[in-house]
Amino acid sequence: MVNKNKMFLLGFMGSGKSTLGKKLANKLELPFFDLDKSIEEQVGISISEIFKTKGEEYFRLLETQILNQLISKQSNFVIALGGGAPCFNNNMKLINEVGTSIYLKYNEGILASRLLNAKTNRPLIANKTKEELVDFITELLKEREQYYNQSKIIVEGNNITVNQVTDLLF
Ligand code: S3P
Repeated sequence: MVNKNKMFLLGFMGSGKSTLGKKLANKLELPFFDLDKSIEEQVGISISEIFKTKGEEYFRLLETQILNQLISKQSNFVIALGGGAPCFNNNMKLINEVGTSIYLKYNEGILASRLLNAKTNRPLIANKTKEELVDFITELLKEREQYYNQSKIIVEGNNITVNQVTDLLF
């Protein structure tokens, strides 16, 4: 049975989790949260600044902490997660225990072209050249798919739409 109260959108950077998440929340009449935005609001600085001043490890702790907060405070929602969130601190297990995980799956070629002009605010790729970006995505995606593939729903495509997602939910 799909739990339609707590929906988690996950996938690599550039997979459109926030854009699709807002549309899905609208369609399902659920509140929408963007985990990265919630982190920035609580800490008062951008994700890039957090990486720069405190490092990735600290960011991962914050990410897990604020994810837990949202889960316990809100009875229903659509959340767009940051690309790494399911892959640290047993977050994927937690997500699958409390709600429905939806993986927006794209291959590395599509992700690279989507990310090429959207690197600036993403500290993990901000300084990569076009060539480095493809290799980096290929490697990291390989590592992360073991988590992403635990999702209850996997949506695959070239330009995933909200109808594709809801067709798999109902
Ligand atoms: C990250 C993805 C980012 C953000 C941070 C780290 C990652 O979110 O959480 O820069 O590890 O993949 P998006 O997936 O929304 O870009």
